[in-house]
Amino acid sequence: MSRLRDKQSWQALKDHFDEVKQVHMRDLFAKDKQRFEKFSIKRCGILLDYSKNRITEETLARLVELARESDLRQGINDLFSGARVNTTEQRPALHTALRNLSGTSVFVDGEDIMPSIQMQLDKMRSFVNEIYRGSWRGYNGQAITDVVNIGIGGSDLGPVMVTEALKPYRMPRGVNVHFMSNVDGSHVVDILNSIRPETTLFIIASKSFTTQESLSNALTVRRWMEDRVKDSDKLNRHFIAVTANKEAALEFGIPENHILEFWDWVGGRYSLWSAVGLSIAIYLGMDNFEELLAGANEMDIHFRNSPFDQNMPVLMALLGIWYNNFFGGQTHAILPYDQHLHRFSAYFQQGDMESNGKSVTRDGEPVDYTTGPIIWGETGTNGQHAYFQLLHQGTRPISADFIAPVETYYPINEHQTILLANFFAQTRALMMGKTEAEVREELEAEGRSVEEIERLAPHKVLEGNRPTNTLLIDKITPRTLGSLIALYEHKIFVQGYIWNINPFDQWGVEFGKKTTSEILDVLMAKQDEVKNCDASTHGLMQYFKQNQY
Ligand code: F6P
Repeated sequence: MSRLRDKQSWQALKDHFDEVKQVHMRDLFAKDKQRFEKFSIKRCGILLDYSKNRITEETLARLVELARESDLRQGINDLFSGARVNTTEQRPALHTALRNLSGTSVFVDGEDIMPSIQMQLDKMRSFVNEIYRGSWRGYNGQAITDVVNIGIGGSDLGPVMVTEALKPYRMPRGVNVHFMSNVDGSHVVDILNSIRPETTLFIIASKSFTTQESLSNALTVRRWMEDRVKDSDKLNRHFIAVTANKEAALEFGIPENHILEFWDWVGGRYSLWSAVGLSIAIYLGMDNFEELLAGANEMDIHFRNSPFDQNMPVLMALLGIWYNNFFGGQTHAILPYDQHLHRFSAYFQQGDMESNGKSVTRDGEPVDYTTGPIIWGETGTNGQHAYFQLLHQGTRPISADFIAPVETYYPINEHQTILLANFFAQTRALMMGKTEAEVREELEAEGRSVEEIERLAPHKVLEGNRPTNTLLIDKITPRTLGSLIALYEHKIFVQGYIWNINPFDQWGVEFGKKTTSEILDVLMAKQDEVKNCDASTHGLMQYFKQNQY
């Protein structure tokens, strides 16, 4: 058995699961009027109500014991101190240093990294100032009106999510931002058709500066610009690179003073706090970008210093393990009831699934337990008209986070009240369900015949006992959004740590990239055939080659 499953706390949780798996949350709430007070915590402008979970105080104690027995405190200290927690690449994971606004030293290979971090922040600020003061001019002398971020994955999803979530904080008469990520020509052409080359600044965001989609898009854009601008100095005014691979950016032709660097100890999916966030800083202004950092830092301090039973990321992580590893849960939904947070779940699809989608422990042993869940979700209330039926009456155990702001930026009529009424109602209905007796009573009250009641009743019963966390945020601001993102980052870290996997590498996607280049060589007629090609791939490639334009 693996070290995790042979832990005393793991066995204690298994025993406890057998005792409580049939307990209904209805009964837990009926027995304890203080349940909400006991199982909720408010920090960083976020109220986390975790009382609608299938837990008792005993459950929580045993989950916290698992964290303790996993030596999580040491893990947290290692994360913040720059230990090589990315074990396969032998690197630290210091996204927390990017928002370490106190400036206290953090060392990598004996060097304090804080001065370099500050220097890149200063360079970001000067770029933003030049754009808004109008001193950054395009090839025909006009000011910049649009920025296009060319990047994918962690070089795209964070800036997209944050700029969408913080629209109310957009700079007045601000620059428009566009995000070109897919190599699909429709994505490229749609954006090029929506901008004016003379007033557009392109940010090529790529940590490796080798990602095929981003480089293909960057090359296409560069040629598109070269068709309009023959003078290379003027052309260069329209390109900035954000990368950890400065040499490749120089090779591409980006002038050195237009390159913003970040480091290999920042994972792509944890990089929005770095210069990858340049498009955010241009869209919101540098002050708001630094508010975002400050919010994340606030959550870092909470995470670092709080006892596990009063620690929001630890609590959310342990609850996720409870469903994932004891109730057999396969997926976890993140459901923001805020239309501007519509890319939040997508962001944490990469954040969670690329981190914890692993099946080998840090020691190289195959796991004998489930690890990262499938993360999914869209905004409410729309989800209620799409997949909530399955949440209410499906056969699968699904846990969910419901996220909403108390205060809206759009106090039009009663919309926020209606939105939150739905928000509260859904978690209540998922928890309470509806018994057969209640269904029958309801059908009788509707005047249904005995036959109709017999026919309909089984279909209208809701089992309930479906667990949710509610995160009620005072207001979505740069600061509270920073805290919310850091909350999920640390939740993911804690789960990975307890599962004894490395949440900071992504060898699986590297394999996909290599396979693509083999196939591309054949489709581009540079090679005759893919080595040991299977009949399906061969047949599909043949069909494409015979039928392409
Ligand atoms: O999905 C694989 C991945 O390497 C991610 O980890 C990363 O965020 C994305 O591709 C883009 O990588 P890069 O920033 O190097 O272009």
